Amino acid sequence: MRYPPQLDFISDTVTVPDAEMIASLQKITFGDLGYEEDEATNQLESYIASLFNKEDACFVLSGTASNLIAINLISSFASSVITGNQSDLYLWESSSVSSFGGLRLEPVNTSSGMISLEDPFWDQVNNSFFGQRAKPSSVVIEDPHIGSGGLLLGQRYLKKLFTRCCDVGLNLHIDGARILNPIFLGIYDPVEIGGSCTTISCCFSKTIGAPMGSIIAGTKEDISKARQIRKLIGGTVRQSGVIAAMCLNALSRGKESVTHSVHIANELYLILKEHGFQDIVKPNHSNIILFKAPQGNDFLIKHFASFGIRIAELEAGTIRIVCHRQHNEESLLRFKEALISV
Ligand SMILES: Cc1ncc(COP(=O)(O)O)c(C=O)c1O
Repeated sequence: MRYPPQLDFISDTVTVPDAEMIASLQKITFGDLGYEEDEATNQLESYIASLFNKEDACFVLSGTASNLIAINLISSFASSVITGNQSDLYLWESSSVSSFGGLRLEPVNTSSGMISLEDPFWDQVNNSFFGQRAKPSSVVIEDPHIGSGGLLLGQRYLKKLFTRCCDVGLNLHIDGARILNPIFLGIYDPVEIGGSCTTISCCFSKTIGAPMGSIIAGTKEDISKARQIRKLIGGTVRQSGVIAAMCLNALSRGKESVTHSVHIANELYLILKEHGFQDIVKPNHSNIILFKAPQGNDFLIKHFASFGIRIAELEAGTIRIVCHRQHNEESLLRFKEALISV
């Protein structure tokens, strides 16, 4: 069964193009991505490259493809990639960098998504510890960290992490699937972020609401390699303007979409608190809420479903609610109604 977006809380990826986004297709361009001839895609790539003050950017269809391509281009073959044990890359991306790139994911314990700058692995990178296992060549950090409710790791942390990486000769990729959120909220300075990594990716299909699309930014040389890897994995679609036009429209309304999504999440947080829910995780600026249902998660999920509302368990023990641009007053009202009758 398909839930209407306004009653669907499982992710901000469930939004559908609205009339304005569909109208943006009237200005569609039909150039071929393989020949780098699509005007809308070129515009999107230039916009993101200059946003992060990087030399170039490469458009792809999904966040998983962005990570796969970026990580491959910054890592040497048969090396390992250090990442958080609670990252999307480690948990939810089908180990694509291992299957396609010959890379081993080396998870390290994280606290709220942060890889400690004191973790023992830093001192082991260049000594014999890694002699008999894949030697690391890159680090991947996820910011905002979705498993912690969209918590921001902070610009200062990212800067220090990049310095630490450079000190031991590792590249750093930021998986910024939702990093446009703190940028549109004015919390992150994109130039600062771009200066704190080798490559960065972000998605147009998350809070800002395009139906698909993601992008990797980096040096000219790296992005030229990214285009080769994109081709290799079958990601060089042809008339990409069909998607790029909607991504540009989503970007033009990004601030409004992110602000609205966070507002809805703040309202839902208050509703949950009012109704006695405890241990709710809701970072200030985030559109994500994590909580445990005292009645049992399964019970609550089924109860909401009987009201035509979809919520889901992210991991055993935690319900995750993600707010988006197509939630509205009706969403809040129906959510409250369902909660009152638990
Ligand atoms: C942090 C993060 N990275 C990457 C992805 C993968 O994006 P996609 O679903 O577009 O492949 C997600 C998906 O939600 C994500 O949350």
